[in-house]
Amino acid sequence: MPVQFDAVVVGAGAAGLMCASVAGQRGLRVALIDHSPKLAEKIRISGGGRCNFTNLQADRPDRFISAQPTFARAALRAYPPRRFIDLVTSHRISFHEKHRGQLFCDDSSDQIINMLRIECERAGVKRMQPCAVHEVGLRASSGLESVESGAARFVLLTDAGELECASLVVATGGLSIPAIGATDWGFKLARQCGHALVPTRPALVPLTFTAQSWQPFAELAGLALEVDLRIAQRPQAPVFREDLLFTHRGLSGPAMLQGSSYWEPGDAVSIDLAPGRSLAAELFTARQGARQQLGNALASIVPKRLAHTWLIQGGPDTQAAAQQRLAELSNKAIESLAVRFQDWRVTPAGTEGWRKAEVTAGGVATEELEPRSLQSRRIPGLHFIGEVVDVTGWLGGYNFQWAWASGWAAGQALRAS
Ligand code: FDA
Repeated sequence: MPVQFDAVVVGAGAAGLMCASVAGQRGLRVALIDHSPKLAEKIRISGGGRCNFTNLQADRPDRFISAQPTFARAALRAYPPRRFIDLVTSHRISFHEKHRGQLFCDDSSDQIINMLRIECERAGVKRMQPCAVHEVGLRASSGLESVESGAARFVLLTDAGELECASLVVATGGLSIPAIGATDWGFKLARQCGHALVPTRPALVPLTFTAQSWQPFAELAGLALEVDLRIAQRPQAPVFREDLLFTHRGLSGPAMLQGSSYWEPGDAVSIDLAPGRSLAAELFTARQGARQQLGNALASIVPKRLAHTWLIQGGPDTQAAAQQRLAELSNKAIESLAVRFQDWRVTPAGTEGWRKAEVTAGGVATEELEPRSLQSRRIPGLHFIGEVVDVTGWLGGYNFQWAWASGWAAGQALRAS
């Protein structure tokens, strides 16, 4: 005989823990299953170990990327950052705002994991971990049928035996960092159930260049500076004013991670190395009566090593200009150089991939999900929450807020047996 539950949540990460605790608090009998031996590893490693658990602006739908940009709005409005902050505060977890609304634990991300674990325990959630799910089917009055049939109860064959439930929640997250338990299980199940998938790709990820093209810049590894960064071919994508970090293989830092979520292979990245300034006007002013060399003028704006490398790599004209005094440069030469400095175009060859990506862009298409409950429009009782859904937040606590909000929305909506 299968063990009976009202709801089974697969994936005890951020969204699954939230969903299970909320459903349990409503009196539902809930099982929470995870194949990993450790609880919520992504929360543990997040925010450099301090978990950037939300962002004060995370109820803004324009901070999320999805093929259906308005989809996330209902869940984000129903469970805004304030509600998670209240929960954190009620568990006496101290936190601070670091940068642009990003809230981090003062001590450790373990505190968030413990908080969610306690919430689940108080709500009577039965956690099964490590426990793999081998098969999912639907049991109708006529017996066990395939998932596609849309019949009444879900049956899961797991390491812990057969489980049966009225609601099944897929909270298995995205594909990044496979070493700590990421799988494509949720995507496969969605496809098996007839759900469309928006193609997945690594996001919030450093971008890389061919060894040859990056060779001159590789020696700048470790150098960081504030820039304006945008993806040249995607005018609808935002301009991010953030720090850019040079690495041995390419570009990283918050500016590039943010931009990467909008980047597609072949796109060029446009970098303004003098953000918020008019370089041409500054050089014209500096030219008057000065004997300054162009290289030194640029070195007063960006680190000297970068100014030097940029001029050498820019082509014959910037190489020649590097040695010249400003007074020797024509208006046209200064203007052209300033434009290129403020719209430096580089074309990455790829990304650092799932090993380094913070999140997965794409996922279960939202058209066939109900935005207030995250329930499948195809199979009643089936819900998809968190990163497995085609909703990807910006860097800075937005992805956790989506996990909390979507988990809460489903937790409120799960049906009892
Ligand atoms: P999550 O990945 O949290 O949980 C999925 C769970 O499903 C895992 O426990 C996994 O073991 C389990 N699972 C997978 N396959 C399974 C299967 N077949 N059977 C059973 N269980 C299965 N975001 C943010 O807002 N602020 C931050 O500071 C950071 N920092 C950060 C750092 C790093 C290094 C990474 C990789 C990511 C972040 N993120 C982040 C992103 C954030 O961690 C992520 O968006 C959420 O954890 C997503 O929550 P989910 O619950 O959807 O998936």
